[in-house]
Amino acid sequence: MASGKKGERLDKYLSEALGLSRSQSRALIAKKKVLVDGLVAQKADWPLQGGETITLEGQRLERQKYVYLMLNKPQGVVSASQDKRDLTVTDLVKEVFPRRQLFPAGRLDKTSTGFVLLTDDGVFAHEILAPRRHVSKTYQVLLDCPCTPEMQRGFEEGVTLADGQKLEPADLMPDPQAPCQAVVVLHQGVYHQIKRMFGVYGAGVNGLHRLAIGSVRLDESLAPGQWRPLSEQEVETLRRESGS
Ligand code: URA
Repeated sequence: MASGKKGERLDKYLSEALGLSRSQSRALIAKKKVLVDGLVAQKADWPLQGGETITLEGQRLERQKYVYLMLNKPQGVVSASQDKRDLTVTDLVKEVFPRRQLFPAGRLDKTSTGFVLLTDDGVFAHEILAPRRHVSKTYQVLLDCPCTPEMQRGFEEGVTLADGQKLEPADLMPDPQAPCQAVVVLHQGVYHQIKRMFGVYGAGVNGLHRLAIGSVRLDESLAPGQWRPLSEQEVETLRRESGS
């Protein structure tokens, strides 16, 4: 199976195949850990011809057909592929994936933080976002007032928004130690859903952090702005939970 593309630099190929920055790739080459057709690669800008066998510490590398990334979105970054004014979630990964058409599978508000899944697999994104698939999203919420039993009952039954839209039931789990904090699990995706749901009860949302998509949790070691590839098992879990 072919590895690099004709004319592509070796360090760029490694970055894409392994989800590394260009400087991390160069460091691997400098440490003589990368072999091209059995010979130790000497130069980071080695031009590939396409079809070479590239190995790292004996492991053969293959370029993935699709990319699936877990990003911890910082505040102030928009969930879009492009924006004229603001930094986007794809800007945060484009050094490593300059040619991939990555996009966020589902949106988080500019002020929200946490797990954004970036991919270039449109079918996968469609499956995990489709309303009938019910892949849940879990959020940590900070309110400007304590959670009430009325809110909990309302979420359980399905909140009716100010515009008359009746939502699916959602889980609201207040933090017993901190009454203004709660975990909310949604089973559908409506624009500004959590803010509008609490708005029905006159409560404001001061902080919103997405903790999980389905049962895949945001890796706690990722600082805001950091990302890592999803493992094969995590991608499989999401496929299974979306029924695809
Ligand atoms: N609900 C919201 O109101 N905002 C988000 O970013 C996600 C869910």
